[in-house]
Amino acid sequence: MNDHEKQIIQKRYQEEKARGVKFFPDIVYKDAIVAFSLFILLVGLATFVGVPQEPPADPNDTSYIPRPEWYFLFLFEMLKFFPGQIEFIGTAIIPGIAILLLLLLPFFDRSIKRHPRNRPVATITMSVIVAGMVLLTIRAVITTPPQAEAVGLSYQEQVAAGQELYGEYCAECHGEEGEGGVVEGVEGLEGTYLEAINSEDYLYTRTDETTFLVIEYGQPNLGMPAFGLAYGGELTNQQINAIVTFVRSWDDRIVIEEEAGAVPTLAEGEIPDYETHVYPIFRRRCLSCHREGKEKGNYIMSSYESVMTSGDHAPNVIGGDLNSNLIRMINREEIEAGGPMPPTRPLRPEEIDIITRWVEAGALPVRAEAGLEATESVTGTLEATETPAP
Ligand code: HEC
Ligand code: HEC
Repeated sequence: MNDHEKQIIQKRYQEEKARGVKFFPDIVYKDAIVAFSLFILLVGLATFVGVPQEPPADPNDTSYIPRPEWYFLFLFEMLKFFPGQIEFIGTAIIPGIAILLLLLLPFFDRSIKRHPRNRPVATITMSVIVAGMVLLTIRAVITTPPQAEAVGLSYQEQVAAGQELYGEYCAECHGEEGEGGVVEGVEGLEGTYLEAINSEDYLYTRTDETTFLVIEYGQPNLGMPAFGLAYGGELTNQQINAIVTFVRSWDDRIVIEEEAGAVPTLAEGEIPDYETHVYPIFRRRCLSCHREGKEKGNYIMSSYESVMTSGDHAPNVIGGDLNSNLIRMINREEIEAGGPMPPTRPLRPEEIDIITRWVEAGALPVRAEAGLEATESVTGTLEATETPAP
């Protein structure tokens, strides 16, 4: 900088000073406007955008990956370069040096000029630090796996997982389908009557969060044990969530919504297909009591074969015969093979219609184009299976 330039700058400085800007009210006024705008912005963000809710903290959930807010991700990322013993380099030394550099910058760079191009030391130092932060942040976002919840199970998988767990942990007291009733064979609760938890009374008046908390803490004074790991139980938050999803699947409001997509509706006169139309109903409403390990009446409904052939009163499904046990039972008849199925909440009329049409058309494993021939062939197979096994 030569003397001439210095003089110009000095002169401008004196002019500005002579003109005079008072701290109060001039500067205070400007500050107030900026502060107020920021305040409005924050209120707006809080009202209209909000903060995403994460699941409640679970000290026992080992799959949870703790991570900082996005604006600290670069520090978090730096730790990955300095594992174990040398971690302090990433946590203290490098950030310390960076902060020190920023603090000392005004002393290195004493130029009077203000344009960044004329202040190389300051500009370069600052750029390097900012670029480093940006790159580390990007790297963190790319390399960190998403949270387990986000990877997530599909709704159907959640329900299936919840059903397993429910069968294992809850059914002995609350019944296979949450129907409640008098408890039998459970120490301390023998003969206690439990209200149904699959009823509209329960499901319409309780939120999922309530059910979650009841499972987590239990209701010790009423005889319901705590299941949350932190309260002496055995279930993680994810497992409890799966059970809650399963319990909620009893809610007919949910079922309708969910199955509208899951089970394709049939056209007038269309013959249902076992895999697409029939099995999803069995899986959802029957498997809790009719699968390997829980075979009520020795009837297993997890495969086409076993639907057609297993059971104390086999065959329960006969192609073309609308007097088959299964058809009578889903129509709420009380017959020799047992009572109405499922024992508690009836199938919906659309579901009964699907199963009925399927049996009527021969109860085939795959949809037949030519109904009649197929019916004959299946009757043939059934006769074959009816001959007693050696
Ligand atoms: C040892 C028997 C027992 C087991 C096992 C058990 N519960 Fe309970 N549960 C009870 C009792 C007793 C109550 C309290 C009485 C009541 O509310 O009818 C209760 C209450 C509840 C309630 C609250 C009912 C209401 O009306 O507020 C829910 C929901 C519930 N249990 C769900 C579950 C789930 C889900 C499981 C499996 C993780 C489970 N229970 C396991 C005995 C048990
Ligand atoms: C809550 C448990 C439960 C559910 C859910 C359930 N069942 Fe059953 N099922 C039973 C029991 C228990 C029996 C034994 C007979 C009895 O006690 O009524 C049985 C027996 C049967 C039998 C006679 C088996 C035989 O050969 O003796 C058929 C058929 C049957 N169920 C069909 C179904 C169908 C279809 C569904 C689903 C739409 C279903 N069940 C859902 C409990 C259940």
